[in-house]
Amino acid sequence: MAKTPPPFTCTECQSPAAKWSGQCGSCGAWNTLVELTATSSQTATEVTTLASVSLADGVARPTGVDEFDRLFGGGLLPGSVTLLYGEPGAGKSTLLSQVAIAAASRGTTVLLVAAEESAAQVRLRTERLGTLPDQLLIIATTSLDEALHAAEDRNADLVIVDSIQAVRASDIAGPSGSINQLRTAAERLVALAKHRGPAVIVVGHVTKDGEVAGPRSLEHMVDTVVAFEGDRHQSLRVARAIKHRFGTTGEVGLFEMGSNGLAAVEDPGRLLLDEHVHEVAGSALAIVLEGHRPLVTELQTLVVDSHGGNARRTASGVDNARITLLLAVLEARCGINLAGLDVFASVTGGLKATEPAADLPLALALTAAVTERAIPRGLASFGEVGLAGELRRVRGADRRISEAARLGLSGVIVPSSTPEISCSIPVLRAATLDEAINLARTFTPNTTEPSRR
Ligand code: TYD
Ligand code: MG
Repeated sequence: MAKTPPPFTCTECQSPAAKWSGQCGSCGAWNTLVELTATSSQTATEVTTLASVSLADGVARPTGVDEFDRLFGGGLLPGSVTLLYGEPGAGKSTLLSQVAIAAASRGTTVLLVAAEESAAQVRLRTERLGTLPDQLLIIATTSLDEALHAAEDRNADLVIVDSIQAVRASDIAGPSGSINQLRTAAERLVALAKHRGPAVIVVGHVTKDGEVAGPRSLEHMVDTVVAFEGDRHQSLRVARAIKHRFGTTGEVGLFEMGSNGLAAVEDPGRLLLDEHVHEVAGSALAIVLEGHRPLVTELQTLVVDSHGGNARRTASGVDNARITLLLAVLEARCGINLAGLDVFASVTGGLKATEPAADLPLALALTAAVTERAIPRGLASFGEVGLAGELRRVRGADRRISEAARLGLSGVIVPSSTPEISCSIPVLRAATLDEAINLARTFTPNTTEPSRR
């Protein structure tokens, strides 16, 4: 009887190999082992009906950090590659240390590739975050080759590379962090994941300006991209799935950084509202959707005389182009002139309010700032503003209104085309921005009940 040929071969030296490896055992070339297919041997890959394909590998495995798992629709898929990027100091290593502990304590073999810190440094941090399970392995190396070997050798189920900028492939020119090295590292880690099945998470540092040649250039090579954001000076951290090949994108995980690492934020709306202490002319409550979750956030604006200079528009967390558009609509359709004024706008808590639903609260905040009339306490709003000054309905209106009611806000202004929903707080409907401004002006919160809590 003929012996079955080894299933892999090197495309470089044609040597056979019994198992897949990142490096050819004969010629030392990287990423050259391919599985023999029908064209190269007689063992053809089978065609099956789609309905009969095994789903064993397609099941997401929860890591045990719920706010993290939520980004992936429940957990990490074996064989998937995730890029987690954020600014230095955002808390990426902290988050992944927690993920590593949680996953390892559920029996997952986790390999931490510490390329930036010594093993002792990682232990010091990680020990504070939980008990260290035996399944949690570490290799402190900047060598990509060593990391890949270790992952194969230990049959890791989850490989965490911290960071992709700090590892280097010895056979590729260029320093670590260079575009060649980043690509090579990503390619080889993807190959590892696809052939050996571990879930792989790579950390990438990005700066606020987001360099083009940085780790974000790897987005198309990976399955999932998570942006980890947050103001270093504030405790709130937002993990946002901006790409997810296996499900919905836009899910967010919310954390608070404390002395024992990151804790899930149980009630973000309450947290953000608690910081909204008093009415200030220029601030407005918005109800935005973060993934599927409605969040009440505060938009703050400030307008000051630009003293004859070019009027500046400075935004953080909101879209600069949107502000310009809203200023034009306010002027043309509502007779509110902000020419000659510097305009600043931001979202509290380091969050983002870039969806169109933030138009209305932003326009109301700007109006309040320029007219110096505060919006009544606890009055929130959402809605898209069109160029004609009309208000357009936005998705998830029912969820947004329910959230406002749950938090006991005093009322909510919505586009008049929003479907009816019954709720315990006043829902004010406006067809145009002008109408909404008038509603905000004349609204009197019901003071017999506390408007919050
Ligand atoms: P780190 O995870 O190292 O950030 P990154 O890997 O994104 O560069 O940590 C970020 C900050 O978090 C650091 O300034 C220390 C702080 N921190 C805490 O406040 N509490 C903690 O329990 C830990 C581990 C870190
Ligand atoms: Mg780090």
